[in-house]
Amino acid sequence: MTVPALALDNITCTFASRDEREARYTAIKDATLRVAPGEFVSVVGPTGCGKSTLLNVGAGLLAPSTGSVSVFGEPLTGINRRAGYMFQADALMPWRSALDNVMAGLSFRKVSRAEARERADTWLKRVGLGGFGDRYPHQLSGGMRKRVAMAQTLILDPDIVLMDEPFSALDIQTRQLMENELLDLWAAKRKAVLFITHDLDEAIAMSDRVVVLSAGPATRPIGEFTIDLPRPRDVAEIRSDPRFVELHAQIWSVLRDEVLKGYQQQLKAV
Ligand SMILES: Nc1ncnc2c1ncn2[C@@H]1O[C@H](COP(=O)(O)OP(=O)(O)OP(=O)(O)O)[C@@H](O)[C@H]1O
Ligand SMILES: [Mg+2]
Repeated sequence: MTVPALALDNITCTFASRDEREARYTAIKDATLRVAPGEFVSVVGPTGCGKSTLLNVGAGLLAPSTGSVSVFGEPLTGINRRAGYMFQADALMPWRSALDNVMAGLSFRKVSRAEARERADTWLKRVGLGGFGDRYPHQLSGGMRKRVAMAQTLILDPDIVLMDEPFSALDIQTRQLMENELLDLWAAKRKAVLFITHDLDEAIAMSDRVVVLSAGPATRPIGEFTIDLPRPRDVAEIRSDPRFVELHAQIWSVLRDEVLKGYQQQLKAV
């Protein structure tokens, strides 16, 4: 068996409750999730179930209460340096141009300015923003900002890419364009990807494997599906493939009840 790029083993995460007199809140309980080198894995689950928490554990931003994390066989301590992280919210620096945003990570890694500039320029072209390097984030559309963020993450050539609902704020057409672009970039380099989404269509269209999380508290994976659709895929066209429809029905039958439970819990919490 190959060593997983990322292994989250028996992870439990508890948080202090809002009310100190109450017991701690167990967000995730005994969850195991592994991503092989080059594998594209999506995690779906109801809102508030613990998807971002799990990703933060993989990024090394949050230490689990119990359980272990390893990266290519090495136990993870501190930040996961082999991973690049793309957040749900815009994480561009508003005071820097698109080019400077894309260069930032390289400059931080002491790459010379001239080389960083050249590589950032190549990446901007690769994501279709060749002429936009001198624009500031507020001068770019939402889709363009996502492209800059994608270049900013991928320029560092991480062995593992962690993405937390990166396209959820986009309109459907832009979103599908971005999903196809990400798949093209992924196909060229075949990095391990852990992709969080609440959109089952997106998860199936993109992934090799889809993992379904239960509603919280004490969230854990409750279903795992291999997506045996041929690649390369066009995310818009693949949706009408009979196998896609079949997989969707199978996974939705597991996810549906959890979404309902998650929704009811949120109503109770208000
Ligand atoms: N630092 C924290 N302190 C206390 N509770 C937290 C903390 N981080 C997350 N939680 C709680 O853990 C649960 C899981 O949160 P998380 O953000 O991982 O959910 P999610 O699945 O990413 O949700 P969404 O789909 O809305 O992004 C929630 O109930 C949340 O309130
Ligand atoms: Mg989240």
